[in-house]
Amino acid sequence: MTERWTPASWRAKPAKHIPSDYPDADALARVETTLRAMPPLVFAGEARRLKELLAQVSEGKAFLLQGGDCAESFKEFAADNIRDTFRLILQMAVVLTFAGGKPVVKVGRIAGQFAKPRSSPVETQGDVTLPSYRGDNINGMGFTDAERIPDPERLLKAYGQSASTLNLLRAFANGGYADLNNIHRWTLGFVDDSPQGARYKALTDKISETLAFMDAIGVNTNTHPGMHQVEFFTSHEALLLGYEEALTRVDSTSGDWYDTSAHLLWIGERTRQLDHAHIEFMRGIKNPVGLKVGPTLEPDELIRLIDALSPANEAGRLTLYGRFGSDKIADRLPRLMAATKREGRNVVWATDPMHGNTLTAGNGYKTRPFDRILSEVKTFIDVAKAEGVHPGGVHFEMTGQNVTECLGGARALTETDLLDRYHTHCDPRLNAEQSLELAFLIAERLRDDRALDLKAAV
Ligand code: PEP
Ligand code: CO
Repeated sequence: MTERWTPASWRAKPAKHIPSDYPDADALARVETTLRAMPPLVFAGEARRLKELLAQVSEGKAFLLQGGDCAESFKEFAADNIRDTFRLILQMAVVLTFAGGKPVVKVGRIAGQFAKPRSSPVETQGDVTLPSYRGDNINGMGFTDAERIPDPERLLKAYGQSASTLNLLRAFANGGYADLNNIHRWTLGFVDDSPQGARYKALTDKISETLAFMDAIGVNTNTHPGMHQVEFFTSHEALLLGYEEALTRVDSTSGDWYDTSAHLLWIGERTRQLDHAHIEFMRGIKNPVGLKVGPTLEPDELIRLIDALSPANEAGRLTLYGRFGSDKIADRLPRLMAATKREGRNVVWATDPMHGNTLTAGNGYKTRPFDRILSEVKTFIDVAKAEGVHPGGVHFEMTGQNVTECLGGARALTETDLLDRYHTHCDPRLNAEQSLELAFLIAERLRDDRALDLKAAV
């Protein structure tokens, strides 16, 4: 790992899950050249700010909330969808902040989350076998020959969609929508009449009362303009390295390389081989980066990966997302956490309780049971406490839409309900009600821990 890094040095390494079957390599190269001339989507200073906030998470002073679609799509691209996911994250953050008494760092899995690693390169329906769908920035979801051919023009469309999405998110975050005084207005219509809606309303009433009191003593959005806006960051899996390379630029302030496609990029469970292209690319960019950590990873390999990605051991640089499955986490996570603690590696430990808990329902739908997701989060917090590590945050696949993709939750969605509104382009997402319910349940757990910590301190 001591060889010279450049944004293109990954090209000399073996790479998994990057399509090699573009019919016209020149057309792909032309698109990458076009992308190289496009404006950056984020600025290096913003990525550095997120790194600072994640450093606070690593010290237990803040909590990370990251979430969004498994795969964004061209079809579901609409202002309402972006707004609904954004306000759901705001609602969950309010719930978690209130209970945990810590700032919540808000990161969307949005504005660039298109490309997907697939378990099989091909899909068979009846007696027809075609290349798998790989994300809207690569090929199409329709089960036809033509749709499944990788098309480089899709990269430009994905860039454009990411730019418009980010533009709207910035407007929502800074233009007044996210003002705490609007807290009642963030409720999503269909959640309003649910138990989660009632709980949320009770909480927002309390917060509004507090805001009125603060206003009376002279603390309001005029005196504290920060209350008028939120800091919101974007992230996606850095899978398609040609695209990431094209958006990687030198920051004129620091002279460092930043991948300007998002604030935070992560490496998936399937592309984290130490001597492969994805680790090579990610080691050289200065953004905060993430690494998915699954059940087959051993502690010594984890330490080698950490050293490759975070050689200076800077707090906030690296977030690890455990994704084991509710039945494996208690067995696999303790030794990994113990290793990072013992070896003094500064990392954020977070949980992705989605990817280890996917199953196929009797009717063929890919789904995830709410109880298993919750159980993995709870075990994550228990293990972190036992190992003396801060349970830093959560990473969910979720949407503000009223979909029926995950089983259970307060409305006890059943396998039959999956037939109703199953819209995901890849993995099943929590809907808004399920997400909010999860936020309340995690908040309860954080509040109990906080009460215990305070007790122990007196
Ligand atoms: C994902 O985040 O959608 C994903 C593919 O996760 P993992 O790499 O953990 O399987
Ligand atoms: Co997924």
